[in-house]
Amino acid sequence: MTNAIPITIRWMLRQDMPDVLAIENQSFQFPWMEEDFLRCSRQMSCIGLVAEHDGQIVGFVIYELHKTRLRILNCAVAAGVRRQGVGTQMVTKLAGKLSVARRTRVTLEVCETNLIAQVFLRSLGFRAVRIRRDFYEETSEAAYVMQYRLAAPAVGTALTESQPSSQQS
Ligand SMILES: CC(C)(COP(=O)(O)OP(=O)(O)OC[C@H]1O[C@@H](n2cnc3c(N)ncnc32)[C@H](O)[C@@H]1OP(=O)(O)O)[C@@H](O)C(=O)NCCC(=O)NCCS
Repeated sequence: MTNAIPITIRWMLRQDMPDVLAIENQSFQFPWMEEDFLRCSRQMSCIGLVAEHDGQIVGFVIYELHKTRLRILNCAVAAGVRRQGVGTQMVTKLAGKLSVARRTRVTLEVCETNLIAQVFLRSLGFRAVRIRRDFYEETSEAAYVMQYRLAAPAVGTALTESQPSSQQS
């Protein structure tokens, strides 16, 4: 990606909540409430990261640690800085935490009508692997489970900063 803006990625802190909620509210029809974020932050297995550009929070990702995978629970980029590589850099950071010996996959549920997220994830090597009907409380839409799988070392390469879409799964 040629137009990627530089970001730093760090742990999400309690004081980031107003900025995170602002991004959440501009990103989803049925946004998480503050309590949803706080519930996650109280769980040992749940991790929140924020992306900063020029000292401003421009994106975040919340994920859960499972035995063999990372599961993204929520991820969004501020509307004003989309299409500038922020989402790519955040998800690439997560993929960089995978290892053949332990967690080999990143998964997340994406609403069937969220085509932009699907295109975004596909560009990173994710593939839809399952359909979950009745996944959402608020709508009757289904969710697609999208998965990125770390390639076996002998046959492929992992998602990297420079070549995010070479994954075969
Ligand atoms: C999905 C989302 C996180 C993508 O973040 P982003 O920082 O804009 O994504 P990137 O700039 O890294 O885009 C990487 C690639 O994804 C694809 N993509 C991203 N947004 C796209 C769009 N609006 N239309 C078509 N393709 C798109 C493109 O292939 C893009 O590469 P390119 O710009 O070189 O063509 C962002 O649009 C968002 O926050 N959406 C609302 C929240 C949401 O749907 N969250 C679910 C997250 S999976």
